[in-house]
Amino acid sequence: MSPLHVTRTLAEDATDAALRADVLHGLTATPKWLPPKWFYDARGSELFERITELPEYYPTRAEREILATRSGEIAAASGARTLVELGSGSSEKTRYLIDALPLAAYVPVDVSESALTQAGEALTAERPELEVHALIADFTAPLTLPATPGPRLVAFLGGTIGNLLPAERAEFLASVRALLAPGDGLLLGTDLVKDERVLVRAYDDAAGVTAAFNKNVLAVVDRELGADFDPDAFDHVALWDAEREWIEMRLRSRTAQTVKVPALDLAVDFAAGEELRTEVSAKFRKEGVSGELAAAGLELTHWWTDAEGRFALSLSVVR
Ligand code: SAH
Ligand code: TRP
Repeated sequence: MSPLHVTRTLAEDATDAALRADVLHGLTATPKWLPPKWFYDARGSELFERITELPEYYPTRAEREILATRSGEIAAASGARTLVELGSGSSEKTRYLIDALPLAAYVPVDVSESALTQAGEALTAERPELEVHALIADFTAPLTLPATPGPRLVAFLGGTIGNLLPAERAEFLASVRALLAPGDGLLLGTDLVKDERVLVRAYDDAAGVTAAFNKNVLAVVDRELGADFDPDAFDHVALWDAEREWIEMRLRSRTAQTVKVPALDLAVDFAAGEELRTEVSAKFRKEGVSGELAAAGLELTHWWTDAEGRFALSLSVVR
């Protein structure tokens, strides 16, 4: 049985330095913001898994439906022997691809060590002949991939690309393109523009799981930087920005308060009702996806949606 390989590209102290720099910039900016990759410590990864099971959160079910019905077509078009998955999380939906592709190796990439090791251990137990090389890495930084057989398919599922801002997306897609050789491909999951009420509910569920997930970033700053954020002193806010076609997540201060961040020697004043921006989740249309792919030198070769047209998977194979 082949072992699980785990490689850390992200140094533990670099994470800390990056967190400090991000928190310092974000909390001293107007408006205040915190970047999304810090949501995913072990508790954040667990809360995200609970989000995927919520009745209001349709993207996971819609994408799973596409993978369940189209994996054969994806395998025929790609023929990949190595599947690289960016932001792999639990790798749960990925099993449809792993089962359909003629794989020698699976390379899950995530900042969440807990999610990677849990998913990796489960997979090596289920599929002993599959080489699993887990990379603890930031997918927005340059990636060094292990030497595994081609062709390669890079999968970026869950609509996570929508959590990058447009300029970050352009840079990200260009760097993915640079990893690909002729015959390699990109499989991209994008949530689609739809009724505003459906979108807002997916990010503001009745059980409050998304609220807890959003507030978890405060717990990360408290633990890592000794801050004294009280998560209960903030309300979760999810808004649809119709012009930019994205959901914006914020945390709204219930009262006037001062939060101390000892590791940064910082005291941050919040006015009553002041909002801290935490995450965007952009929603797409086919023309937008094909345009952004083309700008990065990638051609949209296949486009699949679920039966209700809520979510899309697109495939670009490099000629
Ligand atoms: N692909 C899974 C998980 C999506 S949630 C699904 O579709 O359900 C987003 C995942 O990306 C989380 O596991 C999170 O830890 C990871 N992630 C977020 N930002 C990241 C970054 N900058 N680099 C690497 N992984 C990141
Ligand atoms: N990639 C997921 C999405 O955009 C991440 C996500 C789901 C998320 N719910 C969230 C991020 C709530 C922040 C807050 O759908």
